[in-house]
Amino acid sequence: MLHEEPELNPNLTHPKRLGLPSSPRIIAVTSGKGGVGKTNIVANLGLALVMRGCKVLLIDADLGLANLDILLGLSPQATIHEVLSLRKTLEEVVWEGPLGLKVLPASSGIPELADLNENQKLFLLTELDHYAERLDVVLIDTGAGISSNVLFFNITARERIVVANNEPTALTDAYALIKVLATRHGETRFKVLANAVSHPGEGQALYRSLMKVADRFLGQEVVLDYLGSIPHDNAVPKSVCLQQPVLSLFPEAPASQSFLRLAQKLWEEPPPLQIDSSIKFFWRRLIKHHP
Ligand SMILES: Nc1ncnc2c1ncn2[C@@H]1O[C@H](COP(=O)(O)OP(=O)(O)OP(=O)(O)O)[C@@H](O)[C@H]1O
Ligand SMILES: [Mg+2]
Repeated sequence: MLHEEPELNPNLTHPKRLGLPSSPRIIAVTSGKGGVGKTNIVANLGLALVMRGCKVLLIDADLGLANLDILLGLSPQATIHEVLSLRKTLEEVVWEGPLGLKVLPASSGIPELADLNENQKLFLLTELDHYAERLDVVLIDTGAGISSNVLFFNITARERIVVANNEPTALTDAYALIKVLATRHGETRFKVLANAVSHPGEGQALYRSLMKVADRFLGQEVVLDYLGSIPHDNAVPKSVCLQQPVLSLFPEAPASQSFLRLAQKLWEEPPPLQIDSSIKFFWRRLIKHHP
């Protein structure tokens, strides 16, 4: 459980106070290769954003192999599975934690959820659209790879953070995911986040390698923005074992500090332009892909 409530920093600016549009930023945190740190990033970035006063929902979209609840020390009685089988409403299964951090947990070991059918996808989008009205940020932990669910959550999000570490396979798999999203689904903009780096230069080098190959094979139309890096930090696996975000357990740890900086950077940049504000958040994305 998140035992201690992190302190709210009054000096940081709430988006609503800045007069920014009230519709939520919907951000998929994704990767080609598994185990590169997505779930930790979603949990800690979510916490860093609520500490800034944002209303945040974390979605565990790794539907067949849920992890987010474990990293947060939750024992959900009901999950997205109950929502999809109409036994519970979304409101009933969303867990609410310190500072109002909300989590939509998934279930493990239910193979049919690993590949949602069209009806389930549309139902989920409608439910999420309704729920998202009250939020500032939705962070989606997509699971790894290029499965139908991973692609679906990536295209319904407005922004994509592609996570990679310095393993060569993480880089090639990140490229493979970007390629599929760009060539098959028309997604042209990605943020790159390097995880578990030994020094900041390693993250920048990783970004340059990815950009070089994307430029060469996908052309100038695909834009990769460098979001930054998170250091390799033994406090992260320690906090995983203790089932709490590193930011609440070891706030001074280098990884925790980088999550705070990342939240600040994300929140200071302007959200992507919205073309038609009369259509709801998740549906708008789907309509774009199925004109
Ligand atoms: N910055 C870091 N420093 C050290 N260890 C890390 C860091 N980030 C993640 N890890 C470790 O890497 C492992 C995988 O992390 P995590 O579960 O967040 O990855 P994932 O991308 O969500 O994996 P999956 O694709 O299986 O869902 C964890 O054991 C975690 O402790
Ligand atoms: Mg994960």
